Amino acid sequence: MSKENRIHSAALRSKVMSANEAASLIQSGMNVGMSGFTGAGYPKAVPSALAKRIMDANVNGKRFKIGVWTGASTAPDLDGALAMVDGIEMRLPYQSDPTCRKRINAGEMEYIDIHLSHVAQFVWFGFLGKLDVAVVEVAGILEDGRLIPSSSIGNNKTWLDQADKVILEVNSWQSSQLEGMHDIWYGTQLPPNRQPIPLVRSSDRIGEPYLRCDPDKVIAVVQTHAPDRNSAFTPPDESSKKIAGHILEFLQYEVKKGRLPRELLPLQSGVGNIANAVMAGLNEGPFENLTAYTEVLQDGMLEMLKSGKLASASATAFSLSNEALAELSADLGRYRERIILRPQEISNHPEVIRRLGVIAMNGMIEADIYGNVNSTHVMGSQIMNGIGGSGDFARNAYLSIFMTPSQAKNGAISCIVPMASHVDHTEHDVQVLVTEQGLADLRGLSPKQRAKAIIENCAHPNFRPALSDYYKRALQFSPGKQTPHLLEEVFGWHLRALRGERM
Ligand code: COA
Repeated sequence: MSKENRIHSAALRSKVMSANEAASLIQSGMNVGMSGFTGAGYPKAVPSALAKRIMDANVNGKRFKIGVWTGASTAPDLDGALAMVDGIEMRLPYQSDPTCRKRINAGEMEYIDIHLSHVAQFVWFGFLGKLDVAVVEVAGILEDGRLIPSSSIGNNKTWLDQADKVILEVNSWQSSQLEGMHDIWYGTQLPPNRQPIPLVRSSDRIGEPYLRCDPDKVIAVVQTHAPDRNSAFTPPDESSKKIAGHILEFLQYEVKKGRLPRELLPLQSGVGNIANAVMAGLNEGPFENLTAYTEVLQDGMLEMLKSGKLASASATAFSLSNEALAELSADLGRYRERIILRPQEISNHPEVIRRLGVIAMNGMIEADIYGNVNSTHVMGSQIMNGIGGSGDFARNAYLSIFMTPSQAKNGAISCIVPMASHVDHTEHDVQVLVTEQGLADLRGLSPKQRAKAIIENCAHPNFRPALSDYYKRALQFSPGKQTPHLLEEVFGWHLRALRGERM
């Protein structure tokens, strides 16, 4: 399909301009809501043009910074380009870009790391200030101005509703067959008139396939033809395979006990190689007719859709390798029936997650011996990525699983620690911990029982003696015996790790 064919509205066709012209409409100090979620559906041209403009301003000694709001992480040509020229004043709600990370940790960029399901509500009520401009990638524009969403939805509905002005990027690289895959719900979501979300099965469609947009707000339309980020996955390593094996064995046990149906419950899976390995394991495992209610659809889930193990998948974005994307594109018409992309305030909505009884599986940086989980901060103060949707799912899931290799940095650091150096998911939201060493089912255990299970099942043998020793002494000398701790020691553990000393 030619670029022209993607814009069927005459009014919006008259607003076509270059990326440089569109970027010149964004001023320093503005808050800009960009599309994009895990490298899918982000604007490909305007952010780079804006970065160039910011660089020129810097050369002339002028300060030019904007607030960048997205669905989640984007790509080097958005986050990377803007961070490189120090053009981001405030970033939210999730990023995974190395340059952003460096600037945030150097104190040069403000970062608000919030639950992904909260963003829309924060914007509707103005907690984050005014949204000046939306820059949203779409796959096409209908005659009446409605928009065919791209490979992610994220917060686009909210950006288009709430921004004063809208810049659209129409990307002809995105398959025109995406049309019909999306489900945008326009029900009332503001208290006190919030309606129940009428979604009772993960495969339900409750809305419409297009995004609404007031054409009068559109100040520019930019045509692009550029691919998504499409990161490759490394094949699962031994550790990921073992983690996947423990989870599979556990799920089979739960089915046997009658605590899970044979087709399990809708799966949520975080991004990354461990999550992909779990999906690969499930694809070869005994379960049939599975479903997914998740944030991101990555290679492993696509494989399962292909094999028929997964009946349907609901998400807010794709995050595929080039090979998986080629597979999807070749047969999009067939997959479209079984894939639904929704706004992230619905894909991550606590009400729906609780109703469906989701099985949530997310990665972590460290867990402590009582089950508190740190997903975001290395050594308590350096941001890695952000909480993403892990909190939305962990708190509300039927089963909340966190997984990690038992050690990081070639065995120098234990991922099981006496006290987490930062807590994103409290012991109350963490039901199962898994490392390559084994799985600890924490349900129904007191803190002291949890400590034993976690040290015995999840800690690496190299660190088990130090953790057991800490726990024994804490039990003896801690002033409180509910969650025994030796406060003068817990930070010493992290400081020694930071200095690279052996435990
Ligand atoms: N101490 C220090 N560094 C650690 C560590 C620890 N305990 N555990 C992991 N790391 C480092 C790794 O060494 C690696 O560093 P590198 O990039 O310099 O090699 C980095 O953290 C990532 O670890 P990795 O083992 O590759 O794990 P991952 O890719 O599975 O990511 C999280 C783990 C926690 C960073 C990732 O899952 C995340 O961002 N989670 C939060 C968001 C989320 O859960 N989203 C999904 C919701 S739908």
